[in-house]
Amino acid sequence: MQILLTGGLGYIGSHTAVQLILEGHKLIVVDNLDNSDLKVLNHIESITKTSIPFRKVDVKSREELAPAFEEFNIAGVIHFAAKKSVPESLSKPLLYYQDNLQGLINLISLAEEHKITNFIFSSSCTVYGEPKHLPVTEETPTQFSLSPYGNTKRWAEEILSEYSNLKSLKTVLLRYFNPVGAHESGLIGELPNGIPSNLMPFVTQTAAGLREELKVFGDDYNTPDGTAIRDFIHVMDLADAHVRALQWLMQQNEDFTSEVFNVGTGNGFSVLEIIQSFEKTSGKKLPYSFAPRREGDIEQIWADPSKIKSTLSWEPKYNLDDMTRTAWNWQKSLEKV
Ligand code: NAD
Ligand code: WQD
Repeated sequence: MQILLTGGLGYIGSHTAVQLILEGHKLIVVDNLDNSDLKVLNHIESITKTSIPFRKVDVKSREELAPAFEEFNIAGVIHFAAKKSVPESLSKPLLYYQDNLQGLINLISLAEEHKITNFIFSSSCTVYGEPKHLPVTEETPTQFSLSPYGNTKRWAEEILSEYSNLKSLKTVLLRYFNPVGAHESGLIGELPNGIPSNLMPFVTQTAAGLREELKVFGDDYNTPDGTAIRDFIHVMDLADAHVRALQWLMQQNEDFTSEVFNVGTGNGFSVLEIIQSFEKTSGKKLPYSFAPRREGDIEQIWADPSKIKSTLSWEPKYNLDDMTRTAWNWQKSLEKV
């Protein structure tokens, strides 16, 4: 029995693949390499000393996806494949509806055809928008997002929740907060295409001299140091959450329908705290200056992770310094290639 990872050569998928294999799972990975590279497969295989079946497939095409379901005995799906850029979704909404919704519908349809009942979905804390109360729990209302990207995550959650109530698909929706850092080996990590919009890759690329300076978007927020606050979570902790979610999901009986989990540490750190940690762990002085707030940014958000801790016995193991240290280690290994 294999676990199908869509988008499994991406940032979070590759780290989850490593953890699943180390826990004894057999995988099949599909990816259209739109935001990844086949080298990532080699690196996952060298970390785990395991060869992994891979198929270059675009999940938007049911025709391309179907053979994987015929060829392999799939016990569950972890659906990472999506486009994830908030700014790009504003300029190309149709691309996001197709990639993030059509891909999901194809997967659900093939899962039904092949009587696959275990489905884990990559959602995002972006579904909460600007929360009125902190920390956010799974009961915090989701909000219409300013970006088509955020809305595709919310709509996907609603499709999966409704479908799980109507059919025999059991689903876990994991709302990731801000994944950062990289595997200790430095062989896999975040591979942003072009100029990164996310904070951590911009920090490491600035320190590597690839960017002139980091712009800190906003120093006038109503926070202790004036900069925005996020719940940064090490990607290896996030990967571990998927392993535990899969094991838990596969133990649920057919009466189970769907469950949502926040996957965050429960600690909010500001942009300046990220910079301070990075300078400490890298020994590099980071050139940065303050700029106006970025449109669409929220002021602060962090998770209440008590549900995932109690239900899945999950605990984050990595701290903020581990996040900045491993992010920098990954950036340095990129320079070597
Ligand atoms: P990523 O871009 O590194 O990985 C996504 C992978 O999916 C890439 O390898 C890409 O090539 C592949 N892909 C994209 N469209 C595809 C398609 N149509 N068919 C097949 N493969 C396709 O992104 P990531 O950071 O690893 O995110 C993985 C998932 O987690 C996404 O669904 C994303 O929305 C979600 N998420 C990410 C974050 C974050 O900050 N990174 C936060 C919350 C949620
Ligand atoms: C974090 C903080 C920025 C870059 C985004 C998506 C979200 C999810 C995770 C997919 C903010 C500040 C950033 C920079 C900065 N992705 N920043 N200078 O915006 O919380 O979430 O990625 O699901 O959907 O919205 O993450 O890393 O972009 O920003 O000051 O050059 O860092 O303003 O306060 P964000 P981020």
